[in-house]
Order: sequence, then structure tokens, then C-alpha cells
Amino acid sequence: MASNSQVSGEQAGNTQTVRLTNQSGERVGGSFYDTVGGKETFRKLVAEFYKLVETDELLRPMYPEGDLTEAAERLQLFLEQYWGGPTTYQELRGHPRLRMRHAAFKIGPKARDNWIRNMRAAQDTLNLPPLLDAELWAYLERAAHSLLNTFED
Ligand code: HEM
Repeated sequence: MASNSQVSGEQAGNTQTVRLTNQSGERVGGSFYDTVGGKETFRKLVAEFYKLVETDELLRPMYPEGDLTEAAERLQLFLEQYWGGPTTYQELRGHPRLRMRHAAFKIGPKARDNWIRNMRAAQDTLNLPPLLDAELWAYLERAAHSLLNTFED
């Protein structure tokens, strides 16, 4: 810890949240989920993403017919949980097992690239501070590459 940082704590039941602030009072600790704006931020990210999926000729047919509300909810809850928010995803869906859950879909380079392009455009609408933007993006892009399961498009 830097010698000039300050630590303040909050007591809630038997859990304690410790926040580190630097000399300008900027937060350097806490969950990423809270830092980027909590549920509303993930709701917007996913809503913007699915708006683009709706008109994506390669991706749209892979998702359920009809409206994408439930698919959007699953992705939102997963991302909230991943970044330190509520664990509702786990309660409703169990262990994420993303590779396994995507095995049913043919994810070749083009599908992956479309997913990445749509998500990048969705994330741009959040206008996050650069370091937070980079942290979120590094994960999403890496996760998308990890779900490639064929080299055929
Ligand atoms: C690489 C390109 C990707 C494609 C083409 C793709 C496609 C799909 C499709 C078609 C579904 C089923 C929709 C539904 O929930 O009914 C799905 C589900 C899901 N995807 Fe992806 N996905 C991709 C990448 C990702 C990434 C990078 C993540 C996480 C960062 C992710 C997280 C999820 C989650 C959490 C679900 C719901 C799983 C469940 O609980 O059933 N996907 N994806």
C-alpha cells in the first residue's frame, strides 16, 4: 500500500468492506462491479449488445427465436457475478461452464469476431474511464477468444 493512502471501513453484518482512497480521494479498492456503476451499467452493456445481435445475420440465428430478453438476462447476471456483484446467476443457472454451454453453437472466427465487434460497440456506449474500460474489455475479448470451438465459419 502506498504510504499516502487512506483506508476507511464499513461494517455490514460480519463482512467488512475496505476502501482505499488516494490523496485526491479517488477510490482504489472495492468491487469492479460497484466501481463501474453496478447493475445499471451491466444492464446497459447487455441491452446495447443484444440490439446489435438482433440485426447480425450470422449471430442472430444462433440465439433463441423470438425476443432476446431471457438471453440478455442470463448474460447480464453472469457478468454481474463475474465482476463481484450479486451471485444470482449461480443461483439460477449453477456453475457457468461457459465452454460447455457454448459447445452447442458453432463458434468459428467470424462468429467470434462479430460477437467481439458488437460487444465493443456496446461497451463504447458506457463511456467508462480508460482504465476501467481496458479492464472490462481485456476480459470480454479474451473470453470470446477462449470460446472459439471450430476454425470453420
Ligand atoms: C465468442 C462468441 C460468442 C457467441 C457466438 C456466443 C453465443 C451464445 C449463444 C447463442 C448463447 C445462447 C443464448 C441463451 O442464453 O439462450 C449464449 C449464451 C451465453 N453466453 Fe455466449 N457467445 C459468445 C461469447 C460469450 C462470451 C465471451 C461470454 C462471457 C463473457 C458469453 C456468455 C454467455 C452466457 C453467460 C450465456 C448464458 C449461459 C446459460 O446460463 O445458459 N458468451 N452465447
